[in-house]
Amino acid sequence: MNKLLTSVLCAILISSCTWAAPAGAPSSAEGQASLASSSTVSAPEPSSTVPLASDDPNDIAWNVTTTIDPEPIRGQLGATILGPQNVEIDRQNPDLVAPPTTDAGSVPNNKWPFGLSHNRLQTGGWARQQNVQQMPIATSMAGVDMRLEAGAIRELHWHQTAEWAYVLNGTTQITSVDQLGRNFVANVGPGDLWYFPPGIPHSLQATNDSEDGSEFLLIFPNGQFSEDNTFLLTDWLAHVPKEVIARNFQTTIDAFDGIPGQQLYIFPGTPPTSDVPVEDPQGQVPLPFAFNFSQLPATQYSGGTAKIADSTTFQISTQVAVAEITVEPGAMRELHWHPTQDEWGFYIEGFGRMTLFAASGNAQTVDFEPGDISFAPAGFGHYVENIGNTTLRFLEIFNTDVFQDVGLAQWLALTPPELVKEHLNLSDDTIASFNKTKQVVVGPKASS
Ligand SMILES: *[C@@H]1O[C@H](CO)[C@@H](O)[C@H](O)[C@H]1NC(C)=O
Ligand SMILES: *[C@@H]1O[C@H](CO)[C@@H](O)[C@H](O)[C@H]1NC(C)=O
Ligand SMILES: *[C@@H]1O[C@H](CO)[C@@H](O)[C@H](O)[C@H]1NC(C)=O
Ligand SMILES: *[C@@H]1O[C@H](CO)[C@@H](O)[C@H](O)[C@H]1NC(C)=O
Ligand SMILES: *[C@@H]1O[C@H](CO)[C@@H](O)[C@H](O)[C@H]1NC(C)=O
Ligand SMILES: *[C@@H]1O[C@H](CO)[C@@H](O)[C@H](O)[C@H]1NC(C)=O
Ligand SMILES: *[C@@H]1O[C@H](CO)[C@@H](O)[C@H](O)[C@H]1NC(C)=O
Repeated sequence: MNKLLTSVLCAILISSCTWAAPAGAPSSAEGQASLASSSTVSAPEPSSTVPLASDDPNDIAWNVTTTIDPEPIRGQLGATILGPQNVEIDRQNPDLVAPPTTDAGSVPNNKWPFGLSHNRLQTGGWARQQNVQQMPIATSMAGVDMRLEAGAIRELHWHQTAEWAYVLNGTTQITSVDQLGRNFVANVGPGDLWYFPPGIPHSLQATNDSEDGSEFLLIFPNGQFSEDNTFLLTDWLAHVPKEVIARNFQTTIDAFDGIPGQQLYIFPGTPPTSDVPVEDPQGQVPLPFAFNFSQLPATQYSGGTAKIADSTTFQISTQVAVAEITVEPGAMRELHWHPTQDEWGFYIEGFGRMTLFAASGNAQTVDFEPGDISFAPAGFGHYVENIGNTTLRFLEIFNTDVFQDVGLAQWLALTPPELVKEHLNLSDDTIASFNKTKQVVVGPKASS
C-alpha cells in the first residue's frame, strides 16, 4: 500500500493512524485488516497500524578475513551460487551479496573503490579519478587520488571549480598566485589540507621529506569535474603562435625555443629547497591556502573521535568542509543526516558498514575498506559501523561552507516524549535515556 493511499484511508476512517505505513512494508491485506480493526477500537494506548519490526539483528554475514565461502544466503532466504563467482569481490561485499532483511527497494550505487578507476600513469606519478562517470549519484563532488614521486610536479594549472585536498602521505609543496597578484607557498604534510578557489592558478610538487614523495586526495565540488580537462601552462603555450608569446612577454621568439610542444601534466623534477615565496610587491594572499588540520585536536566521544575543518576555521575553504572521524571496534558513527549537503566519504583505515536510507522504504547496506569512496545525498539517513577489529578512520566531505548534521538520538531526546512514544512504542525509561547532547560516535552497544 502506498503512503498516499494510507493517508487517504486514515483520513476517511479518522482512526488513530499513529504509524504511517512505509511503502512496501506490510502486505496490503495485513495493512487493511489492522486499519479496519483500529478504526473500531478507540484505544488510549498507542495502537500500531502495521506489524512490529523484526527483532533479527541482521549481523554482518562475513568479512574479508573470514574463510567461509560467500553465499547469497541469509537465514531462510536465498540460495547458493551455482554460476561463476568473483569470490574476492563477494568477500568484500557481504551486505550486497547477502543484504540485511531491512534493506528494501532500490538505491543508486553509493560505493566506488579507487581500485576500479582507470589510472593515468606518467613518469613521476599517477592520478585516478571518480566522477559522475563512475558514480552517477555523486553529482555534487568528484575525487582524484594523486601520487607524486619525490620532486615530481603536477604542473602549473587552473580549473573552473575549487580544489580541496587532504594529504594521505608525504609532503607536497603547493604554490599559487591569486587574482590580485598575491602569492602563496606552503609545504603540506599528512592529514593537512589545501584549498584553491575556482580559477586560481596553482602547482603541486612532492618534496623529498619522505624518499617516496607524496600522495593526496583531491576533491572538486562538481561531480562533472574531470582531472583530464584542466587548463595547463604547457598545453596553453603549445597552442599560442610563437609570435604572440614573444610579444606578450616582450621578448624574442628564440627565448621560447625550449618550451614543450604538448602538455606535461605530471613530470619528474628536482625537489624544492625552500618554501619561501617569491618576493611579492602585492604581498601574500590574506587567507592561507593551507591548513594544519593534523594539528587540530579531535573531540573525543564514547566510541571514537571527530574533528571538523570548514570556513569557520579554514577560512578560504568556502566550498568544501570535512569531518575526519575515527570509530573504535564495535562502535559506530551515529544515525544522522546532513540537512542540505551531499556527503562524499573516503575510507582511510579499517572496515565500515553503512546503510543509506533513501525514503519511501528504500534502503541499501554497503561495506567499505581503505581506498573506497561512499556517497550519501543530502537528507539521506545513514550511519557507519566499525565492523573490523581495528580503528576505522574516514573522511566525510561536503561541498559547503559550514559542516552540519542532524543526529537522530538528539532529535528524539528533544522532542516531546509522549510524541516519540506514540510513534515508536518505547518505554518512558528508554526515551528518558536518549542524550540531549549530540553523541556523534557512540561506543559499543550495552550488553543486552
Ligand atoms: C508495543 O510493543 C510491545 C512489545 O514491546 C507489543 O507487545 C505491543 O503490541 C506494541 N504495541 C503496539 C501498539 O504496537
Ligand atoms: C583481528 O582480526 C584478524 C583477522 O580476522 C585476526 O587475525 C586478529 O587476530 C584479530 N585481532 C584481534 C585483536 O582480535
Ligand atoms: C606512508 O607510506 C609509507 C610507505 O608505504 C608507509 O610506511 C607510511 O606508514 C605511510 N605514512 C602514512 C602517514 O600513512
Ligand atoms: C632533498 O632535495 C634537496 C634539493 O634537491 C637536496 O639538497 C637534499 O639533499 C635532498 N634530501 C634528501 C634527504 O634526499
Ligand atoms: C603549519 O605548521 C607549520 C609548523 O608545523 C608552520 O610552519 C606553518 O606555518 C603552518 N601552516 C599554516 C597554514 O598555518
Ligand atoms: C571478521 O569477523 C570475525 C568473526 O566474526 C571477527 O573475529 C574479526 O574481528 C573480523 N575481522 C575483521 C578484520 O573484520
Ligand atoms: C550525555 O552526553 C554527555 C556529553 O557527551 C555526557 O557527558 C553525559 O554523561 C551523557 N548523559 C547521559 C545521560 O548519557
